[in-house]
Amino acid sequence: MLPQSTYNIGIFDSGYGGLTILKEILSVAPQYNYVYLGDNARAPYGTRSFETVYKYTLEAVRKLFDLDCSLIIIACNTASAKALRSIQQHDLPLLAPEKRVLGVIRPCTEQADSFTHNKNLGIFATKGTVNSQSYEIEIRKFSPDISVTSQACPMWVPLVENGEAESEGADFFVKKEIAALFSQNNSIDSVLLGCTHYPLLLSKIQEFVPAGVRVINQGHIVAQSLHRYLNRHQEIEQSLLQERKRVFYTTDSCEHFNAIGSTFIGEPISSQKISL
Ligand code: DGL
Repeated sequence: MLPQSTYNIGIFDSGYGGLTILKEILSVAPQYNYVYLGDNARAPYGTRSFETVYKYTLEAVRKLFDLDCSLIIIACNTASAKALRSIQQHDLPLLAPEKRVLGVIRPCTEQADSFTHNKNLGIFATKGTVNSQSYEIEIRKFSPDISVTSQACPMWVPLVENGEAESEGADFFVKKEIAALFSQNNSIDSVLLGCTHYPLLLSKIQEFVPAGVRVINQGHIVAQSLHRYLNRHQEIEQSLLQERKRVFYTTDSCEHFNAIGSTFIGEPISSQKISL
C-alpha cells in the first residue's frame, strides 16, 4: 500500500517527444506534480535494438522511481512497443510492485474504431515501433476489421530533435513518407501519429496528406486515458502530490533542452541535467 500524497507522476521519453504528451496531460490533470525525463543524450531510440531500448527504458524507470514517482507514463511509442511489457511483467514485480508503469500505445489502439470510417488506418512511427508490429497486434484485438498500414519515418525524429521541424528541408522527408504510406494503401482515410515527436511536424503532415485524410494526434487520447485510469485506481490517485510542481530532467545539454523543449510544451522550461 502506497503512502498518501507523497508521490509524483513521471513522464519519460527518449527526448522531447513526451513533452507533447505532458502538454495534453497538464490540460486534463494540472493538479499533480510531474517529473519529466528526456534521454536526449541517447535519442533517437527508434533505430535501436530491442535489448538497447529495453535497457535504456528500464534505467529511466528506475531513475523516476528514485525521484519519487509512483506512476510512470512511458510517453514514447518505441519504448512502449519494445520495453513496456517486459518492465510490467518482469521488472515491476521485483522493483516496486505497488507502483505502475503505463504506455501510450494501448490507449490509442483501444479507440482505433473511432479513428477511421472506411476501416483503413495508416500509422506513422519509428522503425522500432513499425518493426515491433505493436499497433497491428493491439488493434487486431479490439478491431479485427481494421486494416492497418504502417510507415516508418526514420528522419522525422532527428529533424525534430535538431529543431528543424519547421524547415524547408523537413518538407522533403514529410512528403516522402506520406507518399510511401499511401503507395501501400491508397484507401487510408485516417493517419495516427504513432510517435510522440511527430506532433511537431503536424502542420506539414496535414498540408501534404491527400485531401480529406484525418491526422490523429495521440496526446489527448493518452491524457484522457490517464484521467480515467486515475478515477478507476484510487490507490494510485491518493498517493499523488497535488502541488502543481513540474521538474524537467535531461541527460544532455540543459540549454538545448530548454530552448527546444519550450517549443514542444508551449511554455518556458528550466531543466536539470541527470545521468542514467
Ligand atoms: N518519441 C519516440 C516515440 O514516440 C521516439 C523517438 C526516438 O526515436 O527516440 O516513438
